[in-house]
Amino acid sequence: MNKTANQMLVIFGASGDLTARKLVPALFNLYKAKQLPENFVVLGVSRSNMTDGEFRRKVVQESTYLKDKVKDASSDFINTFADKFFYEDLGEDYNKVYNKLATRISDLNNKFSTGENYIFYLSTPPSLYEVIAKNLSEQGLNNETNGWKRIIVEKPFGYSLETAKKLNIGLQTYFNESQIYRIDHYLGKETVQNLLVTRFSNSIFEPLWNRNYIHHIEITNAESVGVEKRGGYYDKSGALRDMFQNHLLQIVSLIVMEPPIDASAQEIRNEKVKALKSLRIMRDEETLYNNTVRGQYLASVIDGKKVKGYREEEGVDPNSKTETYAAIKFFVDNWRWKDVPFYVRTAKRMPTKVTEVVIHFKSPHHQVFKNSDMNNKDNQLIIRIQPDEGILIKFGVKVPGQGFTVERANLDFYYSNLADNNVMDAYERLLLDAMQGDATLYARADEVEAAWEFVDPILDYWKNGSDVNIYGYSSGVWGPTNSDRLLEGDLKWRNPGENLADDPGFCVIK
Ligand code: BG6
Repeated sequence: MNKTANQMLVIFGASGDLTARKLVPALFNLYKAKQLPENFVVLGVSRSNMTDGEFRRKVVQESTYLKDKVKDASSDFINTFADKFFYEDLGEDYNKVYNKLATRISDLNNKFSTGENYIFYLSTPPSLYEVIAKNLSEQGLNNETNGWKRIIVEKPFGYSLETAKKLNIGLQTYFNESQIYRIDHYLGKETVQNLLVTRFSNSIFEPLWNRNYIHHIEITNAESVGVEKRGGYYDKSGALRDMFQNHLLQIVSLIVMEPPIDASAQEIRNEKVKALKSLRIMRDEETLYNNTVRGQYLASVIDGKKVKGYREEEGVDPNSKTETYAAIKFFVDNWRWKDVPFYVRTAKRMPTKVTEVVIHFKSPHHQVFKNSDMNNKDNQLIIRIQPDEGILIKFGVKVPGQGFTVERANLDFYYSNLADNNVMDAYERLLLDAMQGDATLYARADEVEAAWEFVDPILDYWKNGSDVNIYGYSSGVWGPTNSDRLLEGDLKWRNPGENLADDPGFCVIK
């Protein structure tokens, strides 16, 4: 049964890239799957001058992002979808024209019976988030006497702990915390959610999920692309703010957290906050030097094609010190994780696109089988977040024949093998959740702040520390070799795809 109430989705920044690239395709999929409510309207709002018809053509009828999705649909079907879209031009000044906007919202609500249930999706520059919240509240559009009101806030959520706190206070002045949905699209990924299921619904993993059995944990997030057309934004952000503070620390929190009492938003998020608060904050320069490495991609030739170095990208300062590679080693100060190192890397212009979590188990206390390959190879549980979504377990088997030679074998599961393989796109899932009032997969204020608290000293050290280097790495390699110094003993980074014989399921994406 469709439990989504009639409602209106008001998108601020509707002429921007995100609306066409992510939001409208997600809405189209929900429409196709009959998940949208009977009475549903999208009101696009931005500074560009457009009519309703022009907006419909731009985001639906002529959208390149929808091309594949609509190719089997009849034109009637597509047009009925497009008819749900309306547009309101806020002119040059987002401050001044909210009474006009409120009137439009009210007219559409009366005409289409959306029950005064409104979602305001903020996909504008972050400097406008608070301004918009304030103006909506002045128009009474935060008032839930008739119908609910929710506000979805895109990333980046703040630029530092201080700015994130300020933004939280700003938004909470006009909306209750329960009305605020901070989006992190990694939480919309099935494989990220499956971390909870892997841990808490299998009795074969959870008993081992602690310092007694786990040697170290490695998380790699690699992208083969560079900053593309986002140089202007990225140069003020960098890998730590762009990926680590949000997406990767969300993954970390799901790995580190204790079992929640139940699967409610409140309980899951309580445990995630506790997990983030237990990350050991690095404060002195020596610790920060020993545990962090940053890098920047250099010009290179990949598959015979020249690619630009980061400093030559459009919108990037030619002397920029912004990192496109970040590797961080850290510890978690609690009972479960004491002394287990976490190694987390994120970077652009890597050899491939991949995000994976590798749980490296400790070797058996006593080696019975000498001279076997397994002596130097740990058991691994590899959770492939993307692509090739799935789980790989590496374990020792006896090589047939005389004696006991042990080799590592793979037990591999692919999501694509599931019969009902209708994996929702992250934005589709997150939009539907917000429409249904489920905030489990959205970040809470204290969660975002706890993540910033951990990241802030690293950012500060990279900006102001004495003797902090930024290492160049050629585009298309696994980052600066200097990051090897983070690894304890003779550990090596697992570079997925580097040794295909050891990684049968791995597919290299060009
Ligand atoms: C975004 C970052 O949040 O995530 C981008 O701003 C990055 O820089 C993107 O490319 C990666 O998302 P995904 O889902 O492709 O891993």
